[in-house]
Amino acid sequence: MATNRTFTMLKPDAVENGHIGAILEKINASGFRIVALKLTQMTIADAQAFYAIHNERPFFNELVDFMTRGPIVAAILEKENAVEDFRTLIGATNPAEAAEGTIRKLFAASIGENAVHGSDSDENAAIEGAFHFSGREMF
Ligand code: RTP
Ligand code: MG
Repeated sequence: MATNRTFTMLKPDAVENGHIGAILEKINASGFRIVALKLTQMTIADAQAFYAIHNERPFFNELVDFMTRGPIVAAILEKENAVEDFRTLIGATNPAEAAEGTIRKLFAASIGENAVHGSDSDENAAIEGAFHFSGREMF
């Protein structure tokens, strides 16, 4: 994947609460081009692998339970400076600390159930995109 791409998931809370359309609209309006998109559900093994970096953290099991409890929307987004700009668009991990107008401020309820994921580096964006999409699903 090119370095002007990032990877996102609209998490189970966002899907359950009917926010797929509103969040995708905000992503679009912020200048990101959707180059891969699907509704899917992670298995426990998927979530444990995806979030392996957090496997020693006290919230790990809660995170895996949450991320597997229902469907997510996975997407790859393209824009100049995509990783950093998307992290700005989603806001702080804890929605109570997220800036006004950010996706987490608008759509998230708590630090655990925070509506959206954004890759934290170009390297992880490529790894996470490839975790969810085959080459034929990226445009
Ligand atoms: P993400 O990876 O999902 O984009 O979130 P992030 O970088 O802002 O935050 P990170 O530190 O990578 O944490 C990953 C996800 O774990 C859950 N979490 N729960 N209960 C807690 O204290 C806690 N802390 C983190 C959140 O779902 C967070 O997005
Ligand atoms: Mg993270």
